[in-house]
This record gives sequence, C-alpha cells and structure tokens, in this order.
Amino acid sequence: MNKSTGKTGNRSEDRVDPSRVPQRKLYTGALMPAIGLGTFGSDHASPDEVAEAVKGAADAGYRHFDCASVYGNEDRVGAALRETGLGRDEFWVTSKLWNDKHGESDVIPSCKKSLADLQLDYLDMYLVHWPFPNYHPPHCDVTSRSPNAKPYIHENFMKTWRQMEKLVDMGLVRHIGTSNMTIPKLRLLLRDARIKPAVNEMEIHPHFQQPELFEFVRANGIEPIGYSPIGSPARPERDRTPGDTVDIEDPVLVRIAERIGVHPAVVCVKWAVQRGQTPIPFSTRRAHYLSNLSGVVSEPLTDDEMKAIAGIDRNCRLIKGQVFLWKEGQTWEDLWDLNGEITPP
Ligand SMILES: NC(=O)c1ccc[n+]([C@@H]2O[C@H](COP(=O)([O-])OP(=O)(O)OC[C@H]3O[C@@H](n4cnc5c(N)ncnc54)[C@H](OP(=O)(O)O)[C@@H]3O)[C@@H](O)[C@H]2O)c1
Repeated sequence: MNKSTGKTGNRSEDRVDPSRVPQRKLYTGALMPAIGLGTFGSDHASPDEVAEAVKGAADAGYRHFDCASVYGNEDRVGAALRETGLGRDEFWVTSKLWNDKHGESDVIPSCKKSLADLQLDYLDMYLVHWPFPNYHPPHCDVTSRSPNAKPYIHENFMKTWRQMEKLVDMGLVRHIGTSNMTIPKLRLLLRDARIKPAVNEMEIHPHFQQPELFEFVRANGIEPIGYSPIGSPARPERDRTPGDTVDIEDPVLVRIAERIGVHPAVVCVKWAVQRGQTPIPFSTRRAHYLSNLSGVVSEPLTDDEMKAIAGIDRNCRLIKGQVFLWKEGQTWEDLWDLNGEITPP
C-alpha cells in the first residue's frame, strides 16, 4: 500500500503513485517519466479544458507534461501546474520552438515567453518542433502553403541549434531535443552539435512504429518520445487521408484489450512504454488519462502480445506535414527523406 495515495495499485485505483511509473535515463543522467500527458487540444479541447486535464492528471500521478507554444494554452497550463502545488523538481515539462521562430534572434525570446507562460524558471526539455522554418497559421488546411517556404537547410538549422545550445548554457533549459526529424538530418546534427539532442519526438503508434528511426535514435543515446501514441483518433478532418488506418480498431489490439479488460487505447500506451519509447497520450477525461497511467504500472503485456503488436505495423503516418512542402509538385513523402537522403532543395 502506498502511504501518500492510500491505494494498492489494482485496476480500480483512482491515483497512481508517481514513484511506480517507469523512468527513462537520458544521456545526461537525468530521469524523465516514461509517460507524459499531451496538451495539444487542437480543435476539440479548449485551453481551459486542457488546463483542467493537467491539474487532474497531476493529481492522478502524472509528472510529465508535453507542451508547445503553438498549442496556444501554455499560460493556462502554467497556471494549472502552479495550482498543483508540486515542487519544481517533482515534475517534467517539455516545450517547443515553433516554426516561425527559427531565426537566430527569435529562439531565446520564444523560450522566455514559454517560460513566462508556464510560470517556470527552467524547462526540462526544449525541442525544435519541426525541422522546417515555414510558418502556417494554426488550424489551416493541409493545402495551405507558406509563400516563403524553405526546405531543410542544415546550415540554417545549425544557427537555430546554436541558440538552443545557448539556452542550456544560460540555465533556461536542462535539455534540448528535436521533433519530426529523419535519420539523415539527425546524422548531420549529431556531427555538428556541441550539445546533442537528448530526445527526438516522433509519431509512434502500433500502425506506425518507425523501427529504423526508433533503433537509430536509441543507438545514438537519444530517447524516442512517441507522439499520437493512440493513433490520434480525434484529429480533425483536415489531418485525415483516405488510406489512414485506425489503431484502436485493430483486431490484435482489441483482443489484447479484452483480455486485460481495458480500452485498446490503453494497450497502445502499455505497448509503447514496454517497447521503449515515451508515449505522451492526450486526454481530457480523467477515466481515460488515469487508465493510460494505470496501464503502464500494471502487469506487462506478454511476449506473444508484444510480438503480435510488432506484426501490425502498417507504416501509416498520420501527421504528414503537408503544410511544410516548399515547392510545387511535391508530395508529403518528400518531407521524410524516405530514400535515406535529405530531399534536395
Ligand atoms: N511533436 C509533434 O509534432 C507532435 C505532433 C502531434 C502531437 N504531439 C503531442 O502528442 C500528444 C498526443 O497526440 P494526439 O493528441 O495527436 O493523439 P493521441 O494521444 O494518440 O490520441 C488522443 C485521443 O485519444 C483518446 N484517448 C486517450 N486515452 C484514451 C483512453 N484510455 N480510452 C479511450 N480514448 C482515449 C482521447 O480522447 P478523450 O480526450 O476523449 O479521452 C484523444 O481524443 C499531443 O497532445 C501533443 O502533446 C506532438
């Protein structure tokens, strides 16, 4: 029995003792909780609802929150974190630099704005949200293009990265990392970085396992953070394409969920932690975010179940990034360096 929660850890618990949640050791030696709460409300959850979820999730036992300036709710999330009464060293906060702030003079002020909104003196992790510096308005359609859209230009990315490194030197952030990178882009960054990325946040769910990138980052001491770990079932219409598959309807996941007596979403989250990435599932419903957290501290999936899930990868990328395309005639695949080389300008 846990003294602080008074609960025993069975499925009917209404809180999870945070000390039972697995942690990832980053190359700096820092420990990051192996599951976080996503805070991207998109079109379906208002900033206040997300803030309420942050408070509720902290009460339920979450100690890791995945934020970003572009989510438009960091001020509310910051107020919610403060209201939890948790000490600063008791929780982990990630934030991200948005695409229109890659300019050398924009990085530090942008981080300071996130810190002010989140009411924090430092961030545990600060990520470059996308490797493309192309602005597009929030909620825009996938056909939207920035008139000044640019490809990935490593020299420019390194200018942004130098400012990210400076944030570490200044003590404003403890770690820096990347998001939505590919192997060839990471190879260049690893070659040139003074402070190497501690994590790479990437789309990972059972139908999109990215085994090659997953292995690459781990082999290089970078922790994979898995976004949209449930397959983002509530993403807006504009982010759907006809070939998209639905993870939580997969018969393998449904069968395992029935055996354990949980929703297939929980199986996605359990699988993620057990496989080795850090999932950051989003939910504003206590029953949901609590069951996701309870799932990672309950009996593990069997080896056969882990194997069965490894076998349902459909290579189905959901967040394709079309708005970052920089010239006519391209398709979203051009953003992801599928042939192992950075797509030429
Ligand atoms: N770095 C990036 O570029 C990037 C991109 C996308 C997302 N992200 C991050 O990843 C986070 C998660 O991704 P996401 O929001 O796209 O998708 P997701 O976490 O895969 O899916 C969230 C959806 O799953 C439902 N859900 C959660 N737990 C459930 C449960 N136990 N039972 C049933 N349904 C459940 C939620 O509905 P309810 O609210 O109704 O529970 C919500 O609609 C984001 O919030 C954001 O922090 C990062």
